[in-house]
Amino acid sequence: MFCHFMFSKVFTRVPRRWVSTSSKPWYITTPIFYPNAIPHIGHLYSLVTADIFARYHTLKNPSRPVCFVTGTDEHGLKIQKAALDKGLPPKEFCDGISQQFRKLANEADVDFTKFIRTSEEAHYTSVEHIWRQLDRLGLIYKGSYSGWYSITDECFYTEGQVLHIAEDGNTPARTISKETGATVEYSSETNYMFRLSEFREALLKHYTSNPNSVVPQSHHAHLVSLLQSPLEDISISRPRSRLSWGIPVPNDSEHTVYVWFDALISYLTGIGYPWPDSGMSKGWPVDMQVIGKDIVRFHTIYLPAVLLALELPLQRQILAHAHWTSSQKKMSKSLGNTTDPFQAIQEFGIDSIRYYLAKVGGRFQDDVDWSHVQLAKHDKELQTILGNLFMRITSPAIASRMAPASSDIHNETFVPLLIASKALPSLVSSHMDRVNVADALEAVVDVLKLANKCLTDAVPWKSSPEVARASYDSCLEALRISGICLQPFIPRVAAELLDALGVSSAERSWNHGHTGSLGNVVSGVRLFRSKS
Ligand code: MSP
Repeated sequence: MFCHFMFSKVFTRVPRRWVSTSSKPWYITTPIFYPNAIPHIGHLYSLVTADIFARYHTLKNPSRPVCFVTGTDEHGLKIQKAALDKGLPPKEFCDGISQQFRKLANEADVDFTKFIRTSEEAHYTSVEHIWRQLDRLGLIYKGSYSGWYSITDECFYTEGQVLHIAEDGNTPARTISKETGATVEYSSETNYMFRLSEFREALLKHYTSNPNSVVPQSHHAHLVSLLQSPLEDISISRPRSRLSWGIPVPNDSEHTVYVWFDALISYLTGIGYPWPDSGMSKGWPVDMQVIGKDIVRFHTIYLPAVLLALELPLQRQILAHAHWTSSQKKMSKSLGNTTDPFQAIQEFGIDSIRYYLAKVGGRFQDDVDWSHVQLAKHDKELQTILGNLFMRITSPAIASRMAPASSDIHNETFVPLLIASKALPSLVSSHMDRVNVADALEAVVDVLKLANKCLTDAVPWKSSPEVARASYDSCLEALRISGICLQPFIPRVAAELLDALGVSSAERSWNHGHTGSLGNVVSGVRLFRSKS
């Protein structure tokens, strides 16, 4: 069990040195991925979700830079074991799979600004720097730790958190984590401990005064309730004899830094920590951290406690998304039920995948089941409401009969469409600000569906030249505004659409949804022609 030492200083201080939002880049992160196995759809989901927010913020405020950090979490027993199984040195093993994650991000149009690997020298410097500071503050001590460790989850469990399963036929007796079902093994060893217990009050204060700091709300509520009870100190090292693949503990090469302690610091390394002149980095604090619901505790308790100790501002918002499942079971390499994202991209094109991930998984609250049939349905929907709309409205049948452009031409059928189009950027923004990507995307889909309906109702290819003209102008305006709003979600198709509409690159930011204009429209462009 954890050792408890008396420590008088209680950390209740509110973090200082906040940087005004206007002077710092907007900073977003994904978790750094374990390169023990090739990426699956769940990983792509974290990447795409963060990319949607990153792109949205760039469009909303083009003069403010966005920093977007992703990468791989390369130390720990899980990687050590996987490398051993493959007969490769851990670094060499990680080189190959880390490259796959980078490739996936690139193929998925994930516009990261930094891909960090925890095996990089700069990261070692950062971790050592933080370790020494915490040590100087008296927040690290050597203790004896006994408990259960899961290599799959890379975390310790107490006796109360595990389940002992008796031998059954062919299956030998084993102990598993109640929460994740992963096998655990007993260990009793000397570890360095971090005085997490000292930070409970400060954390509780932070979360009670910042209700939107963790979303969806259910995670925030759970956290606040968890923080009503004492926190135990945590082990932050393993004996080198057990774990050799990791950052050595400063001044004690017999111990290796615990992989989560190392990994969480990557968010600081990614923005240049330790920053020079002992001042504040231009990027910290991180504005949004996209994580999966399985790693909430690490991000909402462990990392913030370290930040409080270092007197750094806490993360502004943590978005904890639900999981993609396969036949209702969490998709994971250890269960062998994953979907290969590269194959899915090859088959449908990245924008259809992004569309499906965002539309079905963009409320973040509940787990969603991956379905090839549903993906195909969403791919078709996108082509119908967007690709076909563009083809129909720019067809020669309408162009050849429509009246010349004139501000006098109005048609009742298209008034609701014009109103809905005008309101769209603000509506999408309001959903994005409430961290609801699915509803944001749905709002654009609604406008596109309305445009399709108006077109069908007005039959401009058979109606008067005035109706043809009104159809053309209204639908193209709806497409222009939709194209601008679709950029965060399906950047490739949105760019093709805006190109086809002749919208100049200087007129594609969010504000141009209200003020921009069309250029020379190229008719008959087949959107979605490239699959990857
Ligand atoms: N290395 C740690 C994170 C360290 S962050 C300082 C880790 N890596 S992971 O590769 O196991 O998972 C990375 C992310 O992918 C997590 O946010 C996790 O929730 C997410 N997903 C893994 N499987 C997933 C699904 N089946 N569905 C959705 N997201 C999933 O944890």
